[in-house]
Amino acid sequence: MTDYKQYYKNKIVLVTGGAGAIGSNLSRALANLGAQVFILDDLSSAERWNIPSLPGILFVEGDVIDEVKLKRIFYEKPQIVFHLAAFFANQNSVDYPERDLMVNGMGTLRLLEYSTFTKVDRFVYASSGCSIYGSHAPLPLKEEFMSLHLSTPYQITKMLGELYCNFFYNHYGLKVVKPRFFNSYGPGEVPGQYRNVIPNFIYWAMKGQELPITGSGEETRDFTYVDDIVDGLLRAGAFEIAIGQEFNLASGKETRIVDLAEMINDAANNRSGIRYVSRRKWDTKDRLMASIDRAGELIGYEPNTSFEVGLQNTVDWFRDNWKRIESSASFGPGASSAVRDMTSEEG
Ligand SMILES: NC(=O)c1ccc[n+]([C@@H]2O[C@H](COP(=O)([O-])OP(=O)(O)OC[C@H]3O[C@@H](n4cnc5c(N)ncnc54)[C@H](O)[C@@H]3O)[C@@H](O)[C@H]2O)c1
Repeated sequence: MTDYKQYYKNKIVLVTGGAGAIGSNLSRALANLGAQVFILDDLSSAERWNIPSLPGILFVEGDVIDEVKLKRIFYEKPQIVFHLAAFFANQNSVDYPERDLMVNGMGTLRLLEYSTFTKVDRFVYASSGCSIYGSHAPLPLKEEFMSLHLSTPYQITKMLGELYCNFFYNHYGLKVVKPRFFNSYGPGEVPGQYRNVIPNFIYWAMKGQELPITGSGEETRDFTYVDDIVDGLLRAGAFEIAIGQEFNLASGKETRIVDLAEMINDAANNRSGIRYVSRRKWDTKDRLMASIDRAGELIGYEPNTSFEVGLQNTVDWFRDNWKRIESSASFGPGASSAVRDMTSEEG
């Protein structure tokens, strides 16, 4: 296929989790390419104001487990399904493992069943690098490797989703694709107790607070700009050769957390510095860096946003939306992670 973007014109596309960090960007891109986009999202970890307001987008508020909502939305006969709704992410699943299993396990199974019954042409599952490779795989992380020693319920249920995809592909011939994302960041991710390090660091830096590093700061992650992930998803949904395959969508580069913290403090003019808090028990990954060779060979994936540019775009988005972000960001005490460590130490 020479122009995968043309492929989406007039297509009916379902994006579950389309109000979320990646889904809102994907839905916008699809609508701009001329697709009719249905979003199914229960807004459990998203903000209504973050849903793109475009003529090609129809939002249905609901749970992916709710069969009434599923019947309603599959009545529209989506041709392509991007299944991004998930109980997100590691610490949340440690705190609420049963809900994690319901959403990521049962929710994915129901989506696969409805997609099979209604004969959708493509089912793209949002898989996760951190849920497949475990903590001790050789770098760069390659698709052939997998670990059974995962460290959170989220990792287990995201892997379960891949396994269900394989069953529906092998048994029913459903055309599944399984891109594995790595540390997405960018405009559209509202900070909060269970959110990722980049939006939370930007939020605290803009409030003039110290940035809490959970660990030594030498840990690395493969941060991937959301537009690059969206481009990989568009390719995954269009290229025939991707069917049945799993491949990493990443930047292929490592960034140290301490460098990230310093960059964010600089970008936000925050002089409060950083502070070290204890590492979370489940956080056993020292370094993450993916091989992106397979995605490049299969679908021509090539991330092209530098970390500096991506970070600046994200900070700009925070500035442009600061009032809404500030009133939406919630960091309740009690449940978890870096914030709990900070509040308990301060209190
Ligand atoms: N962000 C990352 O770095 C990353 C990395 C690997 C994989 N992923 C996967 O990519 C997908 C999107 O991630 P994201 O960063 O946009 O997360 P997100 O939390 O912003 O998006 C998930 C969306 O799903 C919705 N949702 C949750 N439970 C639901 C339910 N029961 N019914 C309907 N909607 C529900 C949430 O409200 C939210 O809008 C997820 O499947 C996630 O597991 C993300």
